[in-house]
Amino acid sequence: MSRQNIFDNETFFNGYKALRESDCNANDLIEQPAMRKLLPDLNGKSVLDLGCGYGHNCVDFVGLGAARVVGIDISEKMLAVAEKESADAKIEYRNMSMTDISTLNEKFDFLYSSLAFHYVRDFDAFAKDMHSVLNASGQLLFSQEHPIITATVDGAGHFNKDENGNRISYTFSNYNQSGERKIHWYVDGVVKYHRTFSDIITALAKAGFVIEEVCEPVPEEWAIQKLPTLAKEYIKPNFLIVKARKA
Ligand SMILES: C[S@@+](CC[C@H](N)C(=O)[O-])C[C@H]1O[C@@H](n2cnc3c(N)ncnc32)[C@H](O)[C@@H]1O
Repeated sequence: MSRQNIFDNETFFNGYKALRESDCNANDLIEQPAMRKLLPDLNGKSVLDLGCGYGHNCVDFVGLGAARVVGIDISEKMLAVAEKESADAKIEYRNMSMTDISTLNEKFDFLYSSLAFHYVRDFDAFAKDMHSVLNASGQLLFSQEHPIITATVDGAGHFNKDENGNRISYTFSNYNQSGERKIHWYVDGVVKYHRTFSDIITALAKAGFVIEEVCEPVPEEWAIQKLPTLAKEYIKPNFLIVKARKA
């Protein structure tokens, strides 16, 4: 299956919502602070948010001066929350797969995506589609699960601990075997796609993107104070963030 819609699964949806509503999740403590630092000037810009979920980022973009924001998501349940919590006259939500963006009759100045690209099967084709919906010199900023996280076939990479229970290293495997992974996350059979670092960067370059910055974020001091176990991010990263522009 190339377009799983796992966020519409009731058990998954409720588990994920509870995670995001807790004030100690890795999105809010690590990924979002790093993404915010890399946002370009959005004043007067048109923005496409790929896999927008609850639409919280769409609202932020309007606050940062964006003239128009389109948020797309494959999940009706996620978009129902977005319509309720993140409505704005400048935002339009659309229920569609991001792999269908070539059907949009519109180009954008900025493409954004937070933690959704590891659900895309054919990243080479998707990178070309993203390039074609960007205006000249448009920019792309996305985060995804780090390839070290997506690598292990059964999703069971694990930390190794010393005799005092402190995490000291991380074991993963299958890194150089790109492809589908089926893991347990709230429910069995959640489909993600593992790609190596070189797969990702090469797909973007071949599609015509110039890489501006790559970031493997670590928690800032305030985040470690809030959740001390985040210090494990210094052993292995959870997220990969790429900022690129249309050549
Ligand atoms: C981890 S959530 C992140 C949501 C949001 N970007 C955020 O950071 O809060 C991933 C989102 O990607 C969406 N998604 C997964 N596959 C998709 C696809 N093929 N097209 C559009 N959205 C997709 C899911 O429905 C979900 O809302």
